[in-house]
Amino acid sequence: MWYKNILETIGNTPLVKLNTITKNVPGTILAKIETTNPGNSIKDRMAVKMIEDAEKSGKLKPGGTIIEGTSGNTGMGLAMAAIIKGYKCIFTTTDKQSKEKVDALRAFGAEVIVCPTNVEPEDPRSYYSVSSRLEREVPNSWKPNQYDNLANSQAHYEQTGPEIWEQTEGKITHLVVGVGTGGTISGTGKYLKEKNPNIQVWGIDTYGSVFKKYKETGIFDKDEIYPYITEGIGEDFLPANVNFDVIDLFEKVTDKDAALMTRDIARKEGIFVGNSAGAAIGGLIQLKDKLKPEDVVVVIFHDHGSRYMGKMYNEDWLRERGFLQDEKLTAKSILAKKEATEIVTFVDLNTSIDKISSLINKENSAVLVEDESGKIEIITQYDIINAISG
Ligand SMILES: Cc1ncc(COP(=O)(O)O)c(C=O)c1O
Repeated sequence: MWYKNILETIGNTPLVKLNTITKNVPGTILAKIETTNPGNSIKDRMAVKMIEDAEKSGKLKPGGTIIEGTSGNTGMGLAMAAIIKGYKCIFTTTDKQSKEKVDALRAFGAEVIVCPTNVEPEDPRSYYSVSSRLEREVPNSWKPNQYDNLANSQAHYEQTGPEIWEQTEGKITHLVVGVGTGGTISGTGKYLKEKNPNIQVWGIDTYGSVFKKYKETGIFDKDEIYPYITEGIGEDFLPANVNFDVIDLFEKVTDKDAALMTRDIARKEGIFVGNSAGAAIGGLIQLKDKLKPEDVVVVIFHDHGSRYMGKMYNEDWLRERGFLQDEKLTAKSILAKKEATEIVTFVDLNTSIDKISSLINKENSAVLVEDESGKIEIITQYDIINAISG
């Protein structure tokens, strides 16, 4: 048996129990490992769905050019599908995204334009504006617009939701998902809530993003917006794909916690995943008091760790941001942690051998003695053994 092309291998990703990193969180914690999709992320699912929808509606015509603002993962899915289906791709992205992601898109033959992060979405230099302008200027082009194109959440309603329902045999009680365009959480959450309205859907947000405050107050607060490091989640506007009715609550996770938790997933579970998985686990741990031992929690791991080699998996990068907790031990750090002891202890000629031995062993001290002629001698463990055996 074989697949007709690579696109047929998308989906049916494994659900894997976490055993160590969430050991203090009540319940069974399961991770939906989306890295086994051929583009190494969950975004393959919605990329193909958006293209197929546009083909059906006539918006995307044979030989057309796909233009999109993408942080990388959606671009990867679109680029892969474009190769199989015969389209060209131009992507705009921001200078915040990992170089690995941009290089990967170029590896698939896509043209990538890198735009500044710290400008308003309406600014003509923003990656949203540049992709809209290109759509107007490039003939026979189509912009999927993953933020507002509801084929995005529909893909998860049709695939991710049913997969999780079947894999947990309907036992899922909580879904935990990092929210960017909102497609994953809204589509998956909608399907699961239709199956069982008691399922809780928790969105993971970042500091610097508008989602949490909007959900809690209905206010779109521009003061919530500032640059942040976490990739793939949080936004400075409200995409149509975020269905706030499906999401029960949002939890914010700091850049530092998300980065360190991303590394911990690899180190403690042997699962090599990206930054939003770390944020999701960080958020779940923060929310642990809301869970009971009988709960079955599914956390989405959106993408693969290889895209973050220059970032969360790079110690220099972490150190520059003050994120690294466990510095490698040097002689200096050994001395800093060493208990204060007398490094040199003088004893007199009548000090017992037991006392000298204990000073050398327990106190880690060099023991010196002044002999009758006034000469200073060092006594070592070897000298003690010599004296006793002698
Ligand atoms: C790595 C990563 N995590 C999480 C998300 C958020 O998923 P969604 O856009 O479906 O809300 C994205 C979206 O781009 C992503 O690339």
